[in-house]
Amino acid sequence: MEYKDIIYKSPVKHGLINHEKTYKDFQWEDVKKYFEHFTDEGVNIAHEAIDRHATNSYKNKIALLWEGEGNIKKQYTFLNVKAQSDKLANALKNLGVEKGDRVFLFLPRIPELYISIIAIAKIGAIAGPMFSAFGPEAVKDRLLNSEAKVLITTPELNQRVNEIKEDLPMLKHILLVGAKDNLKKNEISYESEINKASESFKIKWVDPEDYLYILYTSGTTGKPKGVTHVHNDMISHYITTKWALDLREDDIYWCTADPGWVTGTVYGTWGPWLNGISQVVYNGRFDAEQWYSIIKKYKVTVWYTAPTALRMLMKAGNEIIKKYDLSSLRYICSVGEPLNPEVIKWGLKVYNLPIHDNWWQTETGSIMISNYPSLPIKPGSMGKPFPGICAKIINTKGKELSPGKHGLLALKRGWPSMLREIWKDKKKYDEYFCVSGWYTTGDTAYMDDDGYFWFVGRADDVINTAGHRVGPFEVESALVEHKAVAEAGVIGIPDTERGEIIKAFIVLNYGHKPSPELKKEIQKFIKKRLAAHAYPREIEFTKDVPKTRSGKIMRRLLKARELGLPTGDISTLEEG
Ligand code: PRX
Repeated sequence: MEYKDIIYKSPVKHGLINHEKTYKDFQWEDVKKYFEHFTDEGVNIAHEAIDRHATNSYKNKIALLWEGEGNIKKQYTFLNVKAQSDKLANALKNLGVEKGDRVFLFLPRIPELYISIIAIAKIGAIAGPMFSAFGPEAVKDRLLNSEAKVLITTPELNQRVNEIKEDLPMLKHILLVGAKDNLKKNEISYESEINKASESFKIKWVDPEDYLYILYTSGTTGKPKGVTHVHNDMISHYITTKWALDLREDDIYWCTADPGWVTGTVYGTWGPWLNGISQVVYNGRFDAEQWYSIIKKYKVTVWYTAPTALRMLMKAGNEIIKKYDLSSLRYICSVGEPLNPEVIKWGLKVYNLPIHDNWWQTETGSIMISNYPSLPIKPGSMGKPFPGICAKIINTKGKELSPGKHGLLALKRGWPSMLREIWKDKKKYDEYFCVSGWYTTGDTAYMDDDGYFWFVGRADDVINTAGHRVGPFEVESALVEHKAVAEAGVIGIPDTERGEIIKAFIVLNYGHKPSPELKKEIQKFIKKRLAAHAYPREIEFTKDVPKTRSGKIMRRLLKARELGLPTGDISTLEEG
């Protein structure tokens, strides 16, 4: 039996009750009425997410239920988050941060990370959250390109920054959370600045089109791109959280993503708080029992996670689930990579709930295609477009393809949270809009006769490993910096747990011999330099890497050879 033929009907019927009707009638403009201060004077997403709740009946409601490794717990009401972010906003202003300045965040998922994101928005400055597993090179690329003025980090992570500090003339201050002493040049204690700062802060009203955050993401070529979003995104954040994640007033919500990735910034910070929801943050590594204990302890009702995590939970077995009371759960969502029908089937069995897949990107800024509570699920499908989103399958000339035909997944441009700029790179930005009238996603997909969308693959060489987007060029560039590596070609190969894993084909420099030890050393080198998730789990030493006559690595050929597929047109392959 084909999984895609099985249709599960979800037992819940609320939120977006009638997708078809709402899709027909919906206007983005109508969402503005949910905001308190969407006026000519200006807007500020931090006002709508935190400050307004701190002055209404939600003020003593828990905004953040935080747990760190070692069972350390903290909780913050909306009023607490307002007070702390006001102080930090003042502290940042005292350091000279102004509207439009970039303040980057290199922090684990500690409360200060979330408070910083709010405080930066309050000034009208631009936040740049970075994943705490990044190595010095990845951090340098981002700080250099964005010309960040201030970095907020911890003494531990700052050790990686120390290696690159000299190359960052624009970086004026490093605020260290939890610094004891021995502060070096440019370093300041976060806590002492907060203690000095005034408690009263007047929020900066900004234009809806003023920038809010930059998140760097990978493409096939070049360094990571700075995808830039604006305060106006709040329209999309608010309503997609409400309808696609189905959040309601009494929910306890847990988004497992880190704000260094777009899911953690949008649906692990802004979306839930715009809706006045209490959210759980767990700052720890993946561990099946620990995850289940979080759901049980905090009585999590809505859970937003990723296919790799679900596959790892599946692997951990069904016996451990019996140890934890997970009956609080009522709605589960997933994003970032294809969600296998097997996982949905398993979820139904063990959690007694379907898992709702949804699709979007750093660039789209919010959920574009989703399975909604009121829509029957076709396992393996990403669902249907969100109201206000026109998604189609097109060919490279912009012609719409009929149902069942594979083509480019494209969106009619102009929804509220669409990226506004690739930071300092107009050419890269324009590439998204090369088909007139459309934003092209880089994904291939098809739509079925019922209007459901099915993911097929990437149209480019971008690798998706455990939901992390990795550019092969970045890994290749980092590899050739290793003294033993002359040339490298990097591809993604299928993996049952992580979707894809990274494989590198490496040509060694004269005098270096292939060995298991060298493989390990190279892997360690990439982990440290780039990021823990970006290292090649497989390495093959080879005599050459196929290239076109113009010198481009033919990754498609490497992949076809690896997977035993037809090699296609190789007429541009370099001879000899
Ligand atoms: O290839 C698609 C894949 O992840 C890409 C976007 O990655 P990123 O910008 O890091 O954002 C991830 C989380 C929003 C997409 O171009 N992707 C995302 N969701 C799905 C998916 N692939 C298959 N199914 C999904 N539901």
